[in-house]
Amino acid sequence: MSSDSSIETTRLGGHGPVVGVQGLGCMGMSEFYGPTDTGEALATLERALELGVTLFDTADIYGSGANEELIGPFVRAHREQVVLATKFAIERRADDPAYRGINNDPAYIRRAVDASLARLGVDVIDLYYMHRRDPNVPLAESVGAMAELVEAGKVRYLGLSEVTGPELREAHAVHPITALQSEWSIFARSVERSAVPAAAELGVALVPYSPLGRGFLTGAFADAGQLDAGDYRRHLPQFTGENAVGNAALVAPIRAIAERRGATAAQVALAWLGQRAEAHGLTAVVPIPGTRKRSRLEENLGATRLVLDKEELAELEPIAARVAGGRYADMGSTSDAREL
Ligand SMILES: NC(=O)c1ccc[n+]([C@@H]2O[C@H](COP(=O)([O-])OP(=O)(O)OC[C@H]3O[C@@H](n4cnc5c(N)ncnc54)[C@H](OP(=O)(O)O)[C@@H]3O)[C@@H](O)[C@H]2O)c1
Repeated sequence: MSSDSSIETTRLGGHGPVVGVQGLGCMGMSEFYGPTDTGEALATLERALELGVTLFDTADIYGSGANEELIGPFVRAHREQVVLATKFAIERRADDPAYRGINNDPAYIRRAVDASLARLGVDVIDLYYMHRRDPNVPLAESVGAMAELVEAGKVRYLGLSEVTGPELREAHAVHPITALQSEWSIFARSVERSAVPAAAELGVALVPYSPLGRGFLTGAFADAGQLDAGDYRRHLPQFTGENAVGNAALVAPIRAIAERRGATAAQVALAWLGQRAEAHGLTAVVPIPGTRKRSRLEENLGATRLVLDKEELAELEPIAARVAGGRYADMGSTSDAREL
């Protein structure tokens, strides 16, 4: 992609910010998916902005704050163009790397936002998501606390992640929700059951996370057991052992379509999302593929010019139902757990 080509824009939610139609997931720049390279990560952020990407996604737990600290100087240098999204709700423990606690208490939310603002070095977060839902805290209380952050000028717009359709409706009645960030890809389609239809009806934008199936849909790896010892994907049931063998075969049609179209599997996966969003009547969909590298960023942005035809969409349709293994080792805090 040449530097003069820039992607189109769309508005998140009825009155939310205008952003490039593809965002950038920054998580892997600090943790989870193998070695990190600060120089290349910072160059990738700059290149993304040059090419029209404006929605940059982080969270307080990525690198236990390190990811917010990494992107902070970039955000501050381009504060007017960047739409900064971060998240709260998942607590970690230094002495137990696998520990994840979900906290939706209003008092916790007020502490979390101040900590994120300090790490990022900014006065306001553009889009503040509840990363996971804790059913022990009434949703209206948590969203009420988030709405107070908007009133206080610490946050501009609100988002939720991994909520069901009914939860999205309940939250939206307390304060307008601008975006729903949930896992959505050719492999992961449970979000289409209730959350996507609710978002379409309410005018909430969809921000699909892990749109490349954490890299698996691109063929970048066929069995997470072969990845670095510390790679988080080694713990995900879909990508290891017997499941990985069967699931790797499911990727074949994606690669075949890519070959026929002179595209890449990543581009097919991202184009598919845009077309599914249209079929659902969503007002906006802004996938946030994650990459640590400029070359892959440029490749992924090429998806904004790819349109799959009816036959290609039909070939991809049965894949999700055949995927073996859960999206997470523990599905307890996902929207799926509260839908079944
Ligand atoms: N709300 C939530 O609960 C939640 C959960 C997970 C993630 N997220 C957010 O969503 C973002 C994206 O999700 P994700 O990073 O989990 O998964 P993803 O975007 O599906 O895949 C990222 C992986 O694919 C690789 N990749 C990227 N482009 C590629 C290409 N063109 N060809 C081959 N491989 C490619 C990346 O490696 P390289 O870096 O080497 O390119 C990385 O390992 C994250 O960065 C994070 O901000 C949110």
